[in-house]
Amino acid sequence: MTDLPTVRTKADLRARVAAWRAAGERVALVPTMGALHEGHLSLVGIGRQRADRVVATLFVNPTQFSPAEDFEAYPRDEGRDAGLLAAAGCDLLYAPSAEEMYPPGFATSVAVAHVSEGMEGAARPHHFGGVATVVTKLLTQAAPDVAVFGEKDYQQLQVIRRLARDLDLPVEIVGGPTVRAEDGLALSSRNAYLTPEQRAIAPALNRALRACAQAVARGSAVDVAEAAAIDSVLEAGFDSVDYLEVRSAEYLERLGPGPIDSPARILTAARLGRTRLLDNVAI
Ligand code: PAF
Repeated sequence: MTDLPTVRTKADLRARVAAWRAAGERVALVPTMGALHEGHLSLVGIGRQRADRVVATLFVNPTQFSPAEDFEAYPRDEGRDAGLLAAAGCDLLYAPSAEEMYPPGFATSVAVAHVSEGMEGAARPHHFGGVATVVTKLLTQAAPDVAVFGEKDYQQLQVIRRLARDLDLPVEIVGGPTVRAEDGLALSSRNAYLTPEQRAIAPALNRALRACAQAVARGSAVDVAEAAAIDSVLEAGFDSVDYLEVRSAEYLERLGPGPIDSPARILTAARLGRTRLLDNVAI
């Protein structure tokens, strides 16, 4: 595998990007926390289509995990990730330390109202504050023309779109379609935690979302379709459903309870053993 040039400081990152810019090249940024899979690599592919250079970032951001979550256990293998990124056509890896990102005395955070409330925002109260702060820093450190994020974390994508617009960041935010296993399960670093039995149950989540989307598109009342989808997820063997909600596609406002006639998205998080799976589909 080709060695991937790697920088660890924002000064080195800026120098590389500035040189490309000076040569008239467009730059794409693909932020990640590592533990890469085909979904992340597809985002690198989208970056390649939209820019001359692709920079991936690798930073397991402590501020988006609560003390009870899996920050310490989060899989870390920079060598493996760098090899996959190089093979996917990435030009540069930015892998800063926690001290580089959050120097002593760091005291600023970015809070995005409305779109970060409810769903993941309710289940993980400080999560989007951590995401919005680190993504704002990554976007200002790298100053890319375009930044690519997965639609798999759809609420996160809309939070990032909102903050880029509100803070006048001169970057185009692009969403990459969710990459799925053949049976429909959305690829996720956390799928590695599933036992074989749980892995067999997991695709039921996407099946339920697709059935719900079809029902709503055909004019079913939103509350009836949501309740049927939750029942089918639990019947398939999931332990609990944190939320399964039909929301407006852009600002993620609650829709229903009756039929809808505007672009919408169904978003869910459900628990299978100790693993929390997320998925969403468009209506
Ligand atoms: O989606 C992720 O991997 C992370 O939330 C992100 C966007 C890289 C910020 O840490």
